[in-house]
Amino acid sequence: MSKAFAVIGDPIDHSLSPNIHSAAFREMDLDCSYIAYRIPKDELKDGIEGLKKIQIRGFNVTIPHKVEMMKYVDKLDESCSLIGAVNTVENKDGVLKGYNTDMDGFLEPFKKKDIPIKDSKVLLLGAGGAARAIVAGFAKEKASNITIANRTLQKAEELSEFSKKIGLNAIPMKIEDVGDSAQNYDIIVNATSIGLKNEDSPISFDSLKENTVVYDIVYMPMNTDFIKKAKEKGAKIIFGYEMLLGQAVRAFEIWHDMEAPYNAMKKALLGGV
Ligand code: ATR
Repeated sequence: MSKAFAVIGDPIDHSLSPNIHSAAFREMDLDCSYIAYRIPKDELKDGIEGLKKIQIRGFNVTIPHKVEMMKYVDKLDESCSLIGAVNTVENKDGVLKGYNTDMDGFLEPFKKKDIPIKDSKVLLLGAGGAARAIVAGFAKEKASNITIANRTLQKAEELSEFSKKIGLNAIPMKIEDVGDSAQNYDIIVNATSIGLKNEDSPISFDSLKENTVVYDIVYMPMNTDFIKKAKEKGAKIIFGYEMLLGQAVRAFEIWHDMEAPYNAMKKALLGGV
């Protein structure tokens, strides 16, 4: 029997995941299908029952269900308990296991490009759900320290506490206080939603050192103002689509127990951006 996979969320019609995974199935000659399935915010429980009935093999979880999904899985991978949200589920004979691929997806481009994180000084913009997974990633890879700059200072302070608890020294600040301090960092990451609507970069790159790594998790548009200004200064760029691809690769490997066809998935993704 053909194996079924899905992504659930609301809204879901613009998801790129069906394209990426379908391309991987074709490339690997797998008898599988992947659909986008809209489940409204208060219908998660029934939606999951429905997916179990059709013996779904696995599914991705996106806004607004990532945190609530924690309640409905039977087992939790370590990645979920650390981050407090589930974005990938594996169904083994009715037993649901939750994973969070945000951290691995974020780290994947560093590995692919051989960019070291150990002992680096990091500036992270944003303190939401994605930023939390990114902090966990930098802690795991033993960055030297992280400055967390956010519009709402309190959220930067809370995320700094989490960071210190998992062994990464952190300093909270307001995003407008970053000023012209770009030169002080080896890696700068935008984990806010600034750029999605073509806004200007939230920080100045006037003092940026050449070869600083500048990473934007916004993937649409691909060339945000943040990326463009960093490029002009000779930064090493990591694009948002690279994280998305990293997450899709990780999900594929969880579900299929084989190496993902990276290039076919990349081609499908870039065709859709
Ligand atoms: P995600 O799951 O993508 O991280 P989120 O948890 O809603 O989404 O986090 C969004 C982040 O973008 C937050 O850091 C938010 O700042 P606040 O904590 O102050 O809300 C940041 N953000 C969104 N719009 C912003 C804007 N116009 N200016 C500055 N920061 C913004």
